[in-house]
Amino acid sequence: MTTPDGAPSLSDWTLTPSKVHLNHGSYGSVPRAAQEFQLELKARMDSNPCTWFMGQYKAVAAARAEVAAFLGVEAQHMALVLNASAGVSAVYNSLDLGRGAEIVMTNHAYGAVLHGAYRIARKYDGRVRIAQIPLEADAETATALVMAEVNDQTALIVLDQITSATARAFPVEAVARAAEAHGVPLLVDGAHAPGVLENPVPEFDGFWVGNLHKFACAPRGTAALVARGDRAACLTPLIDSWGFPYSFPESFDHVGTQDVTSWMAAGTSFRSIEQRYGWSTFRSYAKALCDYGEAIIGDAFADLTGQNHKVDAGMPVGPLRLIRLPAGLATTHEDSHDVRAFISERLDIETAVTTFNGEGFLRLSAHLYNSPSDYEFFAERAVPELVRLAGSL
Ligand SMILES: Cc1ncc(COP(=O)(O)O)c(C=O)c1O
Repeated sequence: MTTPDGAPSLSDWTLTPSKVHLNHGSYGSVPRAAQEFQLELKARMDSNPCTWFMGQYKAVAAARAEVAAFLGVEAQHMALVLNASAGVSAVYNSLDLGRGAEIVMTNHAYGAVLHGAYRIARKYDGRVRIAQIPLEADAETATALVMAEVNDQTALIVLDQITSATARAFPVEAVARAAEAHGVPLLVDGAHAPGVLENPVPEFDGFWVGNLHKFACAPRGTAALVARGDRAACLTPLIDSWGFPYSFPESFDHVGTQDVTSWMAAGTSFRSIEQRYGWSTFRSYAKALCDYGEAIIGDAFADLTGQNHKVDAGMPVGPLRLIRLPAGLATTHEDSHDVRAFISERLDIETAVTTFNGEGFLRLSAHLYNSPSDYEFFAERAVPELVRLAGSL
């Protein structure tokens, strides 16, 4: 992939050339143009903080309109928040779930979101019910397994749109329809969805949160919370500020003395990628790269171990892919951190390593700055080292 001037696309980012970057999914990466614009905004803020902060809520409202347009939702249905976790916490803290409330989640849920649910369930003397969904479950099976946990006590369903540990999608529209039929609110954790899905926010009567600083490449600290109608009316910001006379989403535009220049620079990321490459090009290019990386790395492992490293993720997603690690590697959450650090520090490749049901997985990402040679490098350099590491356990 090249820029419109014919330079390698990597030159639009500022990633260190001393590493191969295959983990866009965890923390994103901000294009140079948006970094530069955010620095300009910070300079403007520090040239006169009094003027800046008195008018900040108007700049936030303008940024909100830009993010909403990118997501394909009405600005009046969307608030900006600092990250997906903050959006989830705002929903948890705003809802009155009632004594004995049950929250339904899955065994693929993101740890921080799950722990927040346990905290809220304790507050109501309730519980969290976990739907056990096999990695390879299709949409119909996953929907049925989630809904099988719903009963009269269910006050909320929380479902990932794209999962973190298992890099798969869940059928959020089908679960939304089933949840509506039961009168149960659904909170969709769409942390990974912006940029990955053309229309990430489903039309539904629930809550949706998503990170713009992952695949959409906005400066970090940019996330959205979407809710419509009566659902929106109950939402209050996590931090009380001067938005209290207003309702959602204007109430969220007032954030006190916080540096939210990331929100104001987000539009620069969206526009620069659209103008220089096109978001649909990103989606097709990243899928093709992941297909390639998944095939060559899976084969390289299999040649050395004789094991099956291909993963059936049920509902796979374009720019994220899972490859089974050699048996014995990353079988616990703690070990997965050690394996990730080994790959980064000893082999100079940034990846994500995850654990699911006691098995370790490599989670590959792809973005516009990646090229086939990144995945070839992993297959040649990292695969033999990881097989050796597994053999030494
Ligand atoms: C599925 C999912 N939910 C929530 C989060 C939390 O995102 P953040 O740390 O930006 O709040 C992540 C982060 O990777 C995630 O993958």
